[in-house]
Amino acid sequence: MARDVFSEMEPFRIKMVEPIHLPSGEDRARFLEEAGLNVFLIKGENILIDLLTDSGTGAMSDRQWAGLMMGDETYAGCRNFYNLESSVRDIFGFNYVLPCHQGRGAENVLHSAFIKKGDVIPGNTHFDTTKAHIEHNNGRAVDCTVDEASDPYLDHPFKGNVDLKKLEAVYKEFGKDRIPFTVVTATCNSGGGQPVSLENMRAVKKLSAKYGIPVCLDGARYAENCYFIKTREDGMRDRPIKEIARMQADCFDMMTMSAKKDAIVNIGGFIATGDPAIYDRIKNFGILFEGFVTYGGLAGRDLEAMAIGLYEGIDEDYLGYRIGHVRYLGERLKEAGIPVLWPPGGHAIYLDMKKFLPQIPPDQFPGMAFCAHLYLESGVRGVEIGTLLNGRDPDTGKNRPATLELVRLTIPRRVYTYRHLDYVVEAVKKVWDKRRQIKGFELTNEAPVLRHFTARFRWAP
Ligand code: F0G
Repeated sequence: MARDVFSEMEPFRIKMVEPIHLPSGEDRARFLEEAGLNVFLIKGENILIDLLTDSGTGAMSDRQWAGLMMGDETYAGCRNFYNLESSVRDIFGFNYVLPCHQGRGAENVLHSAFIKKGDVIPGNTHFDTTKAHIEHNNGRAVDCTVDEASDPYLDHPFKGNVDLKKLEAVYKEFGKDRIPFTVVTATCNSGGGQPVSLENMRAVKKLSAKYGIPVCLDGARYAENCYFIKTREDGMRDRPIKEIARMQADCFDMMTMSAKKDAIVNIGGFIATGDPAIYDRIKNFGILFEGFVTYGGLAGRDLEAMAIGLYEGIDEDYLGYRIGHVRYLGERLKEAGIPVLWPPGGHAIYLDMKKFLPQIPPDQFPGMAFCAHLYLESGVRGVEIGTLLNGRDPDTGKNRPATLELVRLTIPRRVYTYRHLDYVVEAVKKVWDKRRQIKGFELTNEAPVLRHFTARFRWAP
């Protein structure tokens, strides 16, 4: 049996199914109209294949579901917390674990404890919630990603890497008094799901130690990052993923985790660290915002599903299938001549709207127009990562045109089959064939912050 057929095959069998339905073309047009042309506002039951996000949308395993039944709903010191603590210690080597209800809950706790007015937090293209929490605490995020990341077609193995020269320049300018920590997001979601190499993480750690600055891993997709390290970095191919995960964690003083991604749960997260002083600093904010230190806004059963899911997320057969599955979608689209950000990310394929819909200017939101047409053609939902998401400049009130105008087709874990992806490819091709007739959007309603969730539109004339 050819090795690649096995590695791309689903390493699970299906024991429960959820039927999905394609609403009629007429109904799709009506649902889109009722949603003010914003696919975010369409009800889930009216979506055929939902590629809005990979967050909390994965399918839990039989063992995780069994784990839910073992939930110990004791307020303080429930059994499931100790199971989670033991998984985190075993995989990451971090002794202190503070559960949080999801990734942004963890960010809120950590940032409240660490960031003061005027602080600077360098990183590799911070995720939106990370950046929003930094700004909420009156700090500023500084992007130090390598320049290779801004070329959507440059085939580079680690486009999520931190540029050490840019990082050192920030360290020299602000010093440790104004830099409470540096954050490395692996894989880098906002940069296209691109990985960070172990060599780069080690170099970041060394440089940061020299300046006395702690480093935090945003580990939402840490396991997918480990798989890229294994398959792309010299000398790593024969190392077990678990060993790579430990080597990766060793480069950090602490981590925030949205367990809704690589721990394959529908809700959950945590902060972990090996440093008792850091734990002491964050734990009271944990109690204030999330709940007592052994449950952090979650039920005991949720903690159990996380404790089990952390291991399933680093299973090598699973990761080989996962990364191959996403890549399959990217390769089929590329073969069809569709402009796809390259190489494919770990969790999603990103379409380049500047090439797809060049006739639509940024402030008519080409990504949103694409998503509307994709839904009308096929019932598939994607998500705009472009000028709408970028928001307005607080000083001028003008739209901030995105450097990369993208649509993300995000693949939930263990949910869709290769045939579902074939359907998505056909759907994108249909929109591609009529791309020259596609018009942009005009805003009719917009919230002052995080406008992409609720904005409403009409078609531009
Ligand atoms: N960090 C990264 C890299 C993320 O991608 C996300 C969420 C978070 C933190 C926040 O975690 O959602 O559990 O509060 N990303 C989702 C997405 C929402 O669609 O990419 P959360």
